[in-house]
Amino acid sequence: MAIDPQDYVPSGFSQTKKPHACVLVIFGASGDLTKRKLIPALYNLALERRLPERFSVVGFARSDMSDGDFRNKMREAVSEFSRSGLKDEQVWQQFASTLYYVRGDYNEPGAYQRLKRMIDGFDHGSRVLPVRVFYLAMPPDLYAPVIELMAAVGLAPKESEGTARTRVVIEKPFGSDLESARELNRRVHEALDEKQVYRIDHYLGKETVQNIMVLRFANAVFEPIWNRRYVDHVQITAAETVGVETRGGYYDKAGVVRDMFQNHLLQLACLTAMEPPVGFSADAVRDEKSKLLRAVRPITDDQVAVHAVRGQYGPGRINGKPVPVYREESDVARDSSTPTYAAMKLLIDNWRWEGVPFYLRSGKRLFRRVTEIAIQFKRPPLLLFKSCAVEDVTPNVLVIRIQPDEGVALTFEVKPPGPEICVSPLKLDFKYEEAFGNTSPEAYETLLEDCIEGDSTLYTRHDWVELAWLLMDPVIKTWDRIQPNDFPNYEAGSWGPKDADEFMQRDGRRWRRPLNNTNQLA
Ligand code: BG6
Repeated sequence: MAIDPQDYVPSGFSQTKKPHACVLVIFGASGDLTKRKLIPALYNLALERRLPERFSVVGFARSDMSDGDFRNKMREAVSEFSRSGLKDEQVWQQFASTLYYVRGDYNEPGAYQRLKRMIDGFDHGSRVLPVRVFYLAMPPDLYAPVIELMAAVGLAPKESEGTARTRVVIEKPFGSDLESARELNRRVHEALDEKQVYRIDHYLGKETVQNIMVLRFANAVFEPIWNRRYVDHVQITAAETVGVETRGGYYDKAGVVRDMFQNHLLQLACLTAMEPPVGFSADAVRDEKSKLLRAVRPITDDQVAVHAVRGQYGPGRINGKPVPVYREESDVARDSSTPTYAAMKLLIDNWRWEGVPFYLRSGKRLFRRVTEIAIQFKRPPLLLFKSCAVEDVTPNVLVIRIQPDEGVALTFEVKPPGPEICVSPLKLDFKYEEAFGNTSPEAYETLLEDCIEGDSTLYTRHDWVELAWLLMDPVIKTWDRIQPNDFPNYEAGSWGPKDADEFMQRDGRRWRRPLNNTNQLA
């Protein structure tokens, strides 16, 4: 088969650059995501002069608002939610003057025509046509209809050649199972070329997540031991102390597997376990991630009970304060059997990882907020230091702390000073804040900037999203079919259900319980 030069990107960094001009349209502009994340992220990009020279934002939603109302609302949003607050009035004024608003119903073709006229007006007279980014920040059942209407009025023409000028960002969830994700991909691909589609997973924009690849592939010391010969197992944890907050309606239908595993946790597993890509281009990286998911052994229906554990929080305390039971949260069914906690064991059937379990867990209302990847290495083959009181040495663990207390720590054994030859665990700890100050951009800043520049490396490709559903569907469907009889089965403020501990004990292992900022273990 002949190689299309368009597909060939040499090793090294992605071939992207900032466009001269860009219009970013936000569908769902009166919603939470726009005010909490998108506009604050864009303002921070403006502050750091990382936006294109000519840049405008058009908010689109059903609420009745003028441009002025929209600007005022967004000003409040930036003051409240931007990581730097409303730091620079002059930058805000300049940024605010580029914000526009169009009112419309999502199913009304006329509204899309109005929008088109407005943004065509931005193009008028310019030598270089602006990049157009359409951000779908509204309910997922509207993704396909909105894309189809955009296509029908010529707002987002399909571009199969060269670098696409029109891009569409699609928020999660992308489908609710394999079938719906396939159908959504099919409808999206009727209107758009895959290279125009940016499926967002905000975890991929986190600095610490991007650092996984740098840690693995820009250092010579880790890769040689990053395999079944040296690694005993891997634990990936995303523990939250928050409950479902105002999203009970969505969450009660989704549950933790759809909400956290099908996207964020599997992405972390891929970055940890994938092979080195041939370069840092979008497809080179995404090829490796998809290849990894193809190697994950599917958990069949009859193995769900052995390879996965579920839980739902009951009464308890977070930071000393009582919190509501899940079934009493607003918009949650009083007899809900939706899991708010899950743990899974994934096995990867490839040369590198044969026999090394990857344990994934995530839950709401847990003891502590912590997202981390812990690579636990094998014990040394022989305990030479018999005079030591300890029975055994602590295995080396490399912990990549995604959040909070972002950093990387390696524990190893040392000899404490004294006459005896003894061993005691110690830690080498790198902390982002100590090394770089508190300057990390928010995930949405990175991701929006990448999309504006046409770099989709940190976005999810169509095949990955389907593979991820393929792996998670049997767990979700088996749990839907076999109702739990012990919910709620964990106390809010604990580390999850007892079953999860027994699940690990059966494998002769135990969950890490990071206690505090220094990542001490209980
Ligand atoms: C979202 C989930 O995707 O990720 C939320 O829908 C979850 O339920 C959130 O709380 C966690 O993100 P972060 O960045 O706080 O770890």
